Amino acid sequence: MRLLVTGITGLLGVNLAWEALAAGHEVVGVARRALPRAPFRTLQADLARPGAADEVWRVAHPDAVVHTAALAHVDACEQQPDLAERLNVHLPAELAALAAREGVPFVHISTDAVFDGRRGDYTEADPPRPLNTYARTKLAGERAVQTAYPDALVARVNFFGWSLSGKRSLAEWFLVRLRQGEPSPGFTDVYFCPLLANHLAQVLLEALARGLHGLYHFTGRACVSKYTFGVALARRFGLPAALVRPASVNEAPLTAPRPRRLTLRSDKLAAALGHSLPDWEAGLDAFYTLERRGYPERIRGWQ
Ligand SMILES: NC(=O)c1ccc[n+]([C@@H]2O[C@H](COP(=O)([O-])OP(=O)(O)OC[C@H]3O[C@@H](n4cnc5c(N)ncnc54)[C@H](OP(=O)(O)O)[C@@H]3O)[C@@H](O)[C@H]2O)c1
Repeated sequence: MRLLVTGITGLLGVNLAWEALAAGHEVVGVARRALPRAPFRTLQADLARPGAADEVWRVAHPDAVVHTAALAHVDACEQQPDLAERLNVHLPAELAALAAREGVPFVHISTDAVFDGRRGDYTEADPPRPLNTYARTKLAGERAVQTAYPDALVARVNFFGWSLSGKRSLAEWFLVRLRQGEPSPGFTDVYFCPLLANHLAQVLLEALARGLHGLYHFTGRACVSKYTFGVALARRFGLPAALVRPASVNEAPLTAPRPRRLTLRSDKLAAALGHSLPDWEAGLDAFYTLERRGYPERIRGWQ
């Protein structure tokens, strides 16, 4: 199939492209900058511009779409709420409407952060309560997509992995600092259930192949505090775990309020796929192995 991936330069986009190629699919990627040396076609477009989604659609002519592009930086959304609204609400609705018109399978990437994180252990049936502009616009985006295309798949995700910049994901952030011998705060009061981006990409492709639609949590089967994640990462890479210092999110210089217990249940997805999802420990092992095999250099060579 010819898969259109928006946000191809992003943390999810680049790993999804890799996994889709490995599975034998044709990939067409979109971002504001092209990837001139990628082994697939990339289109350069500013998707915030009205009309850009139509133009990309006409050129790409996709068999399926995974829409990952977003204003995904939480504090940037607080500072640029109009851009967040455009990219996180209107753009997904436009793309979903184009897909609906032609009956093309459409996966919209949303976030675990639609919940306020007070209770934790959330299922798809629990009412979301966004705490900041990023989360509010992502929730509005989910709803706009579902209205435009009731057969779309809406995937609430959290993930880490190798990025083009080498500093996009939490795992890379810890790794860069630990390798420089810098003490690194790890929040003991923030929990998440991340998947390795490559694992997430594989599960998204599987869900597409099975024709899943509706709302699903695409999160790991185990949850962890950011502190424990940092310590485990240090140990996996043979770095001094004591450099990961227990800290509270209350002390962090962050603009937007952050949810604490973003522990999401993925039982609905596991039942639909007939198997459980990987966990973050398996993800960390694979993250380590990917580096040993030269994966980060290979994706960065696409630029
Ligand atoms: N990272 C996480 O753990 C996490 C957690 C929950 C949910 N999510 C969701 O997962 C999705 C992917 O996140 P990510 O971490 O991969 O994001 P990212 O690394 O910030 O990448 C965002 C992508 O969107 C593209 N983009 C942004 N503005 C654009 C514009 N005006 N026109 C065209 N492309 C544009 C960027 O391309 P250029 O900047 O190169 O144009 C980039 O390719 C998002 O929907 C995000 O909300 C992520």
